[in-house]
Amino acid sequence: MLQNKTFLITGIADNRSLAMYVAKEIIKQGGKVVCTGLGVSAFHSNLSDRAKAFLNTNFEDFKASIKTELGDTTRVDILDVTLEENMEDLARNYEKDGIRLHGFLHAIAMDKTIRKKEVKPLLEVTRDEFCDTMDVSAYSLIRIAHYLLKYNVLQPGSSICSISYIAASKVTFHPYRNMSIAKAALERISVELADELGRKNGTRVNAIRFSTYMGSKAGTATLNQSDVDISDRMSPLGNAHPQDLATEVVHLFRPDVRITGEIRHVDGGYHITG
Ligand SMILES: NC(=O)c1ccc[n+]([C@@H]2O[C@H](COP(=O)([O-])OP(=O)(O)OC[C@H]3O[C@@H](n4cnc5c(N)ncnc54)[C@H](O)[C@@H]3O)[C@@H](O)[C@H]2O)c1
Repeated sequence: MLQNKTFLITGIADNRSLAMYVAKEIIKQGGKVVCTGLGVSAFHSNLSDRAKAFLNTNFEDFKASIKTELGDTTRVDILDVTLEENMEDLARNYEKDGIRLHGFLHAIAMDKTIRKKEVKPLLEVTRDEFCDTMDVSAYSLIRIAHYLLKYNVLQPGSSICSISYIAASKVTFHPYRNMSIAKAALERISVELADELGRKNGTRVNAIRFSTYMGSKAGTATLNQSDVDISDRMSPLGNAHPQDLATEVVHLFRPDVRITGEIRHVDGGYHITG
């Protein structure tokens, strides 16, 4: 299905990341992947020792999980989407190394207003907290696409997917406040890009709202088991699994699928009840 196609997978932190399931499914369907992980790039400056240690550990975990799950021939690069130079350098290097992409997965999110599973009231969110979350979790979709197109890495007819959550449009039993706004922006960006890039070179852009999932680092940091149990009960089919998400992304990555500008639900039907 994905023979001779290569996809960029962002957002793998470890083997339980949602993006890892997508990467494995692409390979199972005959495609290839290149992966990016958060680490210390040549473009970081003034990092504290603590920040450097955090980023180094993150990148080592990422590399180790890629090696075990995808094999040691999979290309890995550092990507911090807060750094324009890092995004441009990545695209430039792909171009130089002859990497041509048929799509990419955006699986990146960060919100410092959620700490120890506690969500800061929106009224208390600072300008920096708001803009940082928006920058990393939403605007980065535009900029990754921008640089990949600038260096002719993203091929005509490609497919772009991002991972969203029902909170983009509804206040749920576990309100995310600041992150919900970034997810709403991510979805709107997907729709606008679907129009712009579809007309430009046939590129498709879709977003998938996924169930609550505690397995990943982001999930563990934000959810309680009781949240996952509630959404499981409220979903007619129970919570969707990471493999369900991977199957859907791969479907949207297929070259013969004329679907774009969609906000899909892979959530066991939670959206019709929640
Ligand atoms: N876990 C859930 O319940 C759930 C539900 C719906 C949607 N999602 C979304 O799925 C996506 C993947 O999340 P996950 O649950 O697999 O968690 P995860 O922690 O495995 O992935 C989040 C990724 O974002 C990356 N990231 C954060 N800041 C970055 C930056 N500045 N530059 C580059 N990368 C950065 C992290 O390194 C990590 O790889 C996110 O967009 C998340 O919001 C998760």
